[in-house]
Amino acid sequence: MNAKIQEAKEKFGLLLEKQLERNEKIKAEKEFIDYSKLDTIIIGIVGGDGIGPAITEESARILKYLLEDKVNAGKIEFRNIDGLTIENRAKVMKAIPDDVLAELKECHVILKGPTTTPRAGDEWPNIESANVAMRKELDLFANIRPVKVPEQGIDWTFFRENSEGSYALGSNGIHITDEVAFDFCVTTTEGSYRIAKAAFDYARKTGKGKVTAVTKANVVKTTDGKFLNICQEVAKDYPEIEFDDWYIDIMTAKLVDEKRRKDFKVLVLPNLYGDILTDEAAEFQGGVGTAGSSNLGKRYAMFEAIHGSAPRMVKEGRAQYADPCSMLRACVMLLEHIGEIELAGKLEKALDYCMFENKKVVITGRADGATSREFGDYVLETIKSM
Ligand code: IPM
Ligand code: MG
Repeated sequence: MNAKIQEAKEKFGLLLEKQLERNEKIKAEKEFIDYSKLDTIIIGIVGGDGIGPAITEESARILKYLLEDKVNAGKIEFRNIDGLTIENRAKVMKAIPDDVLAELKECHVILKGPTTTPRAGDEWPNIESANVAMRKELDLFANIRPVKVPEQGIDWTFFRENSEGSYALGSNGIHITDEVAFDFCVTTTEGSYRIAKAAFDYARKTGKGKVTAVTKANVVKTTDGKFLNICQEVAKDYPEIEFDDWYIDIMTAKLVDEKRRKDFKVLVLPNLYGDILTDEAAEFQGGVGTAGSSNLGKRYAMFEAIHGSAPRMVKEGRAQYADPCSMLRACVMLLEHIGEIELAGKLEKALDYCMFENKKVVITGRADGATSREFGDYVLETIKSM
């Protein structure tokens, strides 16, 4: 037994060293990249796997149409990055193959299709999720996920901490013995501060007026306790913004409470709660297939759907019927992020029109509905007529 404890202590020691190193690294990263100072913004297009390539291709086609002038003027360059497929990742046994990572690091902004995340017992080796690895490698600490249902008064923006919490060492848990398994949750001051500040800055900039922190600080006292305390501290710098905090259990209930849910505006949460709550939230809007998200760091930014690669659709031969709306919503966020506010507005308007106002082309995910390509054509045609 002592040998097992010793072995676990050694493994834990190495994890501690790495996390302390990470903490120093993120503290040193002060400034956000300024796109207006770049000659050329490089946008990487990563298809991913499963339904990823189909929906990414449609979104990239529309994005390229919108940005054509900028590309011709040399202000924007698109790069296709292949090789982030589960087959390739399994072959080299890495969440992100080295050559793919090197290509990603040459970009400023990435549009990424969903990637398959294996779990114990799957047909694939149990490698780390490519999403999680990319968020860590590029230090994409803010996962921003908007959800809107105007007719129900819902207008939420989730600021999910994206680099720590239960995800920091999600693939580094320790089986102390055959019977006892440990996972770890990591929260740093800087990690909490930078996501809280991002949420409050956004609430200030957009005039949304309210930030809500969501934790389980009554039980997960150390890490969630730190996260909440830092949110409370940051709130003091934004006296004009109302601040409150809820526990994740009651928050999941309040999102279905029609009277209360309208009150929430900007929500800031640790990684795992953010993962769970944003799937629930997206369901009110029409499901995860309609929700895009941005993953922002100080140097890099990545835009993606909030859902997975839907291997079932591929197995059943339905990949071409996948809904590209989540990726197209991610493109709206991408355009906004690089300062193309007008183009972002245009694409958003076209999507609202095609998705809600004039449902001429409807995606059902099956052969009785439109293909991704047909829906993409409809969006393009709508943009051109605007
Ligand atoms: C998400 C996804 C990922 C996550 C998975 C695919 C690893 O669910 O982006 O929300 O858990 O973060
Ligand atoms: Mg999720």
